[in-house]
Amino acid sequence: MSRIARAVINLGALKHNLVVVRQHAPAQKIMAVVKADAYGHGIARVAKAISEEFTSEDAFAVASIDEAIMLRSVGVSHNIIALEGFTTVADLALLHEHNITAVVHHISQVILLELHQQQASNLKLWLKIDTGMHRLGFAPQDVKKMYKRLLTTGADTDIGLMTHFANADDLEDNKTEKQINTFNEIVEGNPADTSLANSAAILGWPDSLGHWVRPGIMLYGVNPFVKRNNDFKLKPVMTLSAALIAINKIVEGESIGYGGKWTCPEDMPVGVVSIGYGDGYPRHAPNGTPVLVNGQRVPLIGRVSMDKIMVDLRTQPNAKVGDKVVLWGEGLPVEEIADAAETIGYELLCGVTKRVAFEYHDGETE
Ligand SMILES: Cc1ncc(COP(=O)(O)O)c(C=O)c1O
Repeated sequence: MSRIARAVINLGALKHNLVVVRQHAPAQKIMAVVKADAYGHGIARVAKAISEEFTSEDAFAVASIDEAIMLRSVGVSHNIIALEGFTTVADLALLHEHNITAVVHHISQVILLELHQQQASNLKLWLKIDTGMHRLGFAPQDVKKMYKRLLTTGADTDIGLMTHFANADDLEDNKTEKQINTFNEIVEGNPADTSLANSAAILGWPDSLGHWVRPGIMLYGVNPFVKRNNDFKLKPVMTLSAALIAINKIVEGESIGYGGKWTCPEDMPVGVVSIGYGDGYPRHAPNGTPVLVNGQRVPLIGRVSMDKIMVDLRTQPNAKVGDKVVLWGEGLPVEEIADAAETIGYELLCGVTKRVAFEYHDGETE
C-alpha cells in the first residue's frame, strides 16, 4: 500500500447516479454540472463517462468559458453551457469558436451584445431570472424587456429561461415554492425552454423540473439535503483513502499532535494516517470525526496537520502499519465528514489537492 493519499473515482457509480437523475426527471433533458473540475473528480474522465450515457440532446454546464474550452479540448461534443456567460467581446469570439452556449444574467452583457451585433450573431443564449436567490439574474420586472432586447441582437432567438434556487436543500423552507411561482408567472406564455432544478430540486421539488434539469452534487453521489432522512440510492463516486504509517503506544495523560488538543485517557494505541490538510482533508475536522480503518469506524484524535492525522485505535488492536484508511466515500459518506467539519460535501470534494493520486475505474453499476 502506497503511503500517498488516493482518490478512487468510481465511474460506474457516476453512471448509476445519472440513472437516478433520469428516474426523477424522465421527461427532462439533462445539463450535467461539471464545473470546478467536476466537483473535484476530474472533468475529462467524468465528462467522458457521462457523455457515454447522454442522449444527443443532453448537455454539460460549467461556470466559465475557460472550463467550457477545457471540455471541448478533451473531446466533448455535446452542448456546453457557461453559467456565468461572458464579459468581453473576446469572450464572444470564444463562444463562437468553441460552440459554447452562454447565460445572460446582467445588463452589461445585453449592452455588449447590442454594441457588437456581428459578434453576437447566432450566439446560443439562456436568460437567467433572479427569482429570489439574489446572486445572478434579472429582476422579474425586467425580464420581458431584456428578453426582447436580446431578440434584436442577432443572437439565436431560441433563448432559454432559467433560474436558480437558494434553499432547495431544505424541504421545509417555502422559499423554493415562492421562487417556482415567480418563475412560472414570468415565463407563462413564452414557449422557450426552461430550467430551474439543481440536485435538491430534482429530488425534492417535482414542480420545478421544467424542460431541463441541472444536476451537480447528486451525480457525485452526495445527498444534497440539510436533513438527510431519505435514501435516494445515490452511490459515492469518490473514495478518498490513505494508510496507517505508524502505530504508537501513548501513555495515559499524554496529549496528541499540535496544540495538544486531545489527551489519552489511558495507555492506548494511536494510529498515524498519511493524509492531512495538504491533501484536502479539512483542518477543522474535530476530535471524534469518523475514519475507517480496515472498514471499521475509529475516531480522529488531535489536530489535523498538513500531511497526517491521528486516530484512536483502541477498538482495532489488530490494525497494523500499511492498513487502508478511508477518509470518505464508500462506507463513509462525505456528508458526515462535512457535518463534523462544519462545511458541505461540495467543499470537501472540490478541495482534494493535486498531491492526491487519482485513479479511475468502472466499478459496479448494479
Ligand atoms: C446555476 C447552477 N445550476 C445548477 C447547479 C448544480 O447544483 P447542485 O450541485 O446543488 O446540484 C449549480 C451549482 O452550484 C449552479 O450554480
